[in-house]
Amino acid sequence: MARILITSALPYINGIKHLGNLVGSQLPADLYARYCRARGHEVMFICATDEHGTPAELAAAKAGEAVDAYCARMHAVQTDLARGFALSFDHYGRSSSARNHALTQHLAAKLGEAGLIEEVAEKQVYSHTDGRFLPDRYIEGTCPNCGYERARGDQCENCTKQLDPTDLINPRSAISGATDLEVRETRHLYLRQSKLRDTLDQWIDSQQGWPVLTTSIAKKWLHDGDGLQDRGITRDLDWGVPVQFEGAPWQGMEGKVFYVWFDAPIEYIAATAEWADAQGLDDSAWRRWWRRDEGAEDVRYVQFMGKDNVPFHTLSFPATLIGSAEPWKMVDYIKSFNYLNYDGGQFSTSLGRGVFMDQALSILPSDYWRWWLLSHAPENSDSEFTWENFQSSVNKDLADVLGNLVSRVTKFCRSKFGETVPTGGTTGAREDQLIADLTTRLRAYETHMEAMEIRKSAGELRALWVLGNEYLQEAAPWSSFKSDPDLAAAQIRLALNLIRFYAVVSQPFIPEASARIMADMQSDNWSWPADVAAALDTLKPGHAFTVPEVLFAKITDEQRAEWEARFAGQR
Ligand code: 2FM
Ligand code: ZN
Repeated sequence: MARILITSALPYINGIKHLGNLVGSQLPADLYARYCRARGHEVMFICATDEHGTPAELAAAKAGEAVDAYCARMHAVQTDLARGFALSFDHYGRSSSARNHALTQHLAAKLGEAGLIEEVAEKQVYSHTDGRFLPDRYIEGTCPNCGYERARGDQCENCTKQLDPTDLINPRSAISGATDLEVRETRHLYLRQSKLRDTLDQWIDSQQGWPVLTTSIAKKWLHDGDGLQDRGITRDLDWGVPVQFEGAPWQGMEGKVFYVWFDAPIEYIAATAEWADAQGLDDSAWRRWWRRDEGAEDVRYVQFMGKDNVPFHTLSFPATLIGSAEPWKMVDYIKSFNYLNYDGGQFSTSLGRGVFMDQALSILPSDYWRWWLLSHAPENSDSEFTWENFQSSVNKDLADVLGNLVSRVTKFCRSKFGETVPTGGTTGAREDQLIADLTTRLRAYETHMEAMEIRKSAGELRALWVLGNEYLQEAAPWSSFKSDPDLAAAQIRLALNLIRFYAVVSQPFIPEASARIMADMQSDNWSWPADVAAALDTLKPGHAFTVPEVLFAKITDEQRAEWEARFAGQR
């Protein structure tokens, strides 16, 4: 039994995430966490909402709420949706927690002691009307390149040109519309990551078998152009972790907060502390996952994220941890994802294009989505959601293959033998062959799951379901029942056991359907089938079961057309 720490990239607090966000981190992380638990490992699975930064402040202003109230409300919304998708976090924290404030300030202090923080003077736009500095996104104006009138201080959305706020023509505050702006000097703290370049380079080189997508991005940022740049880790904002060092003010930094990307990954650790607090446990309970001097030496730590997050997790966050000179647990494996596109274009939060988590759950149970998303995870390249593909996968894999087998076997048994596992008869060569084939496929499934090869795992799971269907087709207990009812009894006994076996092995992908199947099989034996023959002899003759309700309903052409139209445009 191993100890496995799993984190999913933290979703931003500003709004409900779309399915592309979900499949890029939280969902595959959940798949892996569920699998590891099913194999008997001790798992700590952590996620949280990423609550700081300008997007949170702007979204709160747009909603007409105070930013702390907005974050609290949206955290509750996202918690509900996570539950709706059966994401099995041990803790779903908040980066605005007191734990994260304290730990962020602590790590900054350690970086300061190590000589890795310096003050740098910068020019920034100050708004007299708003009484504050305006970070990039808080300034709007006319793009000097294309004349678009609503360009933001960091980039023109129209022509994509990267801008500095001072480039804008007729700049104004995005908060108040004020134009009495002035460029002032302000001081910020910089993390001198460039000093850690060689250390980070060696650390990355020493990692075994990381996905190419992960290492190539890390290496690009380390070596391209000017290499690893020192980064500002403070901002002139109200909302965030105040720039203080373990309670003591940092002179000249009054009124500033840490940059959201500095505190967000620290929340992985802080959320584990929040977990311990929520369980009424003391600090040793979370520190044994995170401190190499307190038991984390033998933890395996796996992170899940979209490719845009990789630089922060391969360089900035490791720089924070290594630079602190404290024995923090470093990541062992980073599983990163490409993008999921939506029906010929991109998912877009700002345009409301695509299916969002709440909408998905309002039309179909979570397992339908989990199955499609995971079996089409954008692992080696971007992938695309189309309604046609979704309909066909759900109807074929879930309804025709798995659902149909469960329904046929249980109904046939009820009509011929009653709602208990039938007695009598013995199985033969055909069943031995089935067990051998299942064993081969199951071992391949385990190998892929351990390697976090998600599409390949889904393929093996589907193949396991197909083997059962082919067996039933050939064994045809409905025919053998007429000539040899004992043989039919033995075949159906095996098939009922096969249904329980499917509940166990499918659980990481489709947990709700698996739980229903297990309940209908009136079993709570979730033990992993180390020995397939023994696993198929778990439910003994006379064991009662219930015929399940329809497990998976097919998606009709009318539904598909309706949803396609409904989700094409504005949310
Ligand atoms: O890209 C994002 O959605 C970020 N909120 C991810 C943060 S991951 C972590 F470091 F906190
Ligand atoms: Zn422009």
